[in-house]
Amino acid sequence: MSKDILKIYPSILAADFAYIADEVKKAEDAGADGLHIDVMDGLFVPNLTMGTRMCAAIRRHTSLFLDVHLMIYNPFDWIERFVEAGANRINFHLEATEDVEETIDYIHRCNIEAGLAFNPETSASLIPKYLDQVDCILMMTVPPGFGGQPFDHEVLDKISFTHAAIQKRGIMVSSKEMDQPDRPLPIVVDGGIDPVTAKLAKEAGATEFVAGSSLYGAPNFKQALQVLRNAIKD
Ligand code: DX5
Ligand code: ZN
Repeated sequence: MSKDILKIYPSILAADFAYIADEVKKAEDAGADGLHIDVMDGLFVPNLTMGTRMCAAIRRHTSLFLDVHLMIYNPFDWIERFVEAGANRINFHLEATEDVEETIDYIHRCNIEAGLAFNPETSASLIPKYLDQVDCILMMTVPPGFGGQPFDHEVLDKISFTHAAIQKRGIMVSSKEMDQPDRPLPIVVDGGIDPVTAKLAKEAGATEFVAGSSLYGAPNFKQALQVLRNAIKD
């Protein structure tokens, strides 16, 4: 597997919000492939985090890929505003809406990538149907809502199942994949990712890694990102 399909996205949720520009720069200087922005509504998950203004503020400080993760009900209603705020990819939860296909279509009509997120307990059997519609599958490896939780090893089987389904279909679905035919549909893992769990997830088929506390909580961010990158390389 070529190294450049493997991406690391620091999760800004674990950053110090009082110094957001510095925290963004830290990720940029360390060579992050993008930033992950966790949006919570206090309803779909029992926590409130940040919204469009924070996303726009981050965008003013970086040209990094912004990977927005909506943990909110009615994600459709927020697409335009997050696109205006600079999102490059919007991930929303299968469990949060009845309008999954309309939401994917609308994100695409806004000319950005669409990701579909799955809670740890959601059955893997629901995933294959969407593989030819989305730009990534976001696999929650903790219950959504909070940073700093332990990685759920039971999700590894779901990652392997999804990886096998992607391999079997051999699909090149997104425009990005058309440009880069060797790039398989990304499987993103989110929650409890550190060098040990990232390696396990990678072995199961994950290609993109969201990490909050293991990077922003480390004494040396750059070094921590390098250790994480080494752990997932072939
Ligand atoms: C959890 C969020 C994650 C979180 C990851 O609901 O979706 O993106 O920030 O944080 P860590 O890496 O600390 O588990
Ligand atoms: Zn997230």
